[in-house]
Amino acid sequence: MQITVVGTGYVGLVTGVTFAEIGHEVICTDVDSAKIMKLSRGEVPFYEPGLQQLMVRNLQNGRLRFTTDTTDAYRFRDVICIAVGTPSRPDGAVDVSYIEQAVLEVAKAIEQYTVIVVKSTVPVGTNEQVRAMVQQHTNCPFDIVSNPEFLREGSAIHDIYHGDRIVIGADSDRAADIVTELHKPFGTPVFRTDPRSAELIKYASNAFLATKISYINEMANLCEKLGANVDAVAHGMGLDRRIGSPFLQAGLGYGGSCFPKDIRALLHMAESAQSELQLLRAVSIVNEQRPYVVLDKLKQRFSSLRNLRVAILGLSFKPNTDDIREAVSLVMMKELLKAGASLIVYDPIVNQAKGNPVLESARFAGSMKEALDWAEASIIVTEWDEIRSFPLLQYNQETLKETIIFDGRNCYALAEAERAGVEYYSVGRPAVN
Ligand code: UGA
Repeated sequence: MQITVVGTGYVGLVTGVTFAEIGHEVICTDVDSAKIMKLSRGEVPFYEPGLQQLMVRNLQNGRLRFTTDTTDAYRFRDVICIAVGTPSRPDGAVDVSYIEQAVLEVAKAIEQYTVIVVKSTVPVGTNEQVRAMVQQHTNCPFDIVSNPEFLREGSAIHDIYHGDRIVIGADSDRAADIVTELHKPFGTPVFRTDPRSAELIKYASNAFLATKISYINEMANLCEKLGANVDAVAHGMGLDRRIGSPFLQAGLGYGGSCFPKDIRALLHMAESAQSELQLLRAVSIVNEQRPYVVLDKLKQRFSSLRNLRVAILGLSFKPNTDDIREAVSLVMMKELLKAGASLIVYDPIVNQAKGNPVLESARFAGSMKEALDWAEASIIVTEWDEIRSFPLLQYNQETLKETIIFDGRNCYALAEAERAGVEYYSVGRPAVN
């Protein structure tokens, strides 16, 4: 099929590249011409394992191209996927202006029956608004399909090929058939529904996953009071197939560009519809407290944080990405700086401040060892494999250092910390000291 993807952010780029990989002819467009130039040269503007290789392969075989010439890119296409950003407004509402701009341009350019697929996460009712907008600006036949995306950063390629479902929200069988056909090579089960339900499935899914995380984090707090081990509790719970083990990893809570924003949006949507989502409000409050649970442990251990040398291990909001949007590391660093601590940071991929004022106030270490060597206390914020597999025992034997670790992601077994002689405070588990 002839596909155009509008927006080369995370969802757009991964979608475009993988559609090309399964055999479609794909054009990706973006208003950012510098970005389009970079992409045309085979440079991926963010870190995502496996993406660059696939992108370069499809640029070379001619199935994928990048352009800013939207008229050409929208004119004779079977499907146009809208994957532009939908940022939060200060009140939590979603700003759909990029969607509106993109759709307007599409409406003015199309010259044959076109299926317009909305992949961006949009409030319930947006697809209907989009339909009305397009109708006003074209005489061409078209259909609008809501097709939310469920891939995770850091494992996007894997997720696309091993998805649990493809949700297609459409009023037209013709359009739903085309979008089903488009995804066929992925072999993922398809669920067809109406556009409003499809839009809500996306928010309800993210909110449910966030609820699991906040739930296990509350259990972690309780485990600390009752002397239980949250990792064992989560494992035991997850063995029940009705509960399932994913998203029961206790820690510093969820961050990133999706969960916090989508939960704010869902709360706002409910409020606008005179409905109350009490559970979700609590989920959000529990999450906001997570960094402070670990910071309090630090405050209890040291009489003052003033001039304390603290290492932050892991900056990205989760492993295998360079994304620091709504990352817990930034909240922790801000609080530590306020308390007068001196900071060194280490992340396997995020190794410069990139204009972020919080990151600019810290020194970047070249290795985890360098950060540990310098620090009096080290906080593990992101569970990168490199951090999880750090040889604590060997490190302590070699340096004879009195290492104090506050592990926000339960990277090490308690027995390992004990053997290594490390003073070790983790989440929802007894301290080792
Ligand atoms: C999330 C969803 O998982 C995707 O299905 C969805 O498509 C995406 O949002 C989106 O809306 O675009 P993502 O934000 O990339 O994906 O990352 P997740 O793996 O879901 O992690 C989110 C946060 O939860 C991270 O900060 C992670 O550290 C935290 N988390 C995750 C936990 O604290 N515990 C867990 O058990 C799992």
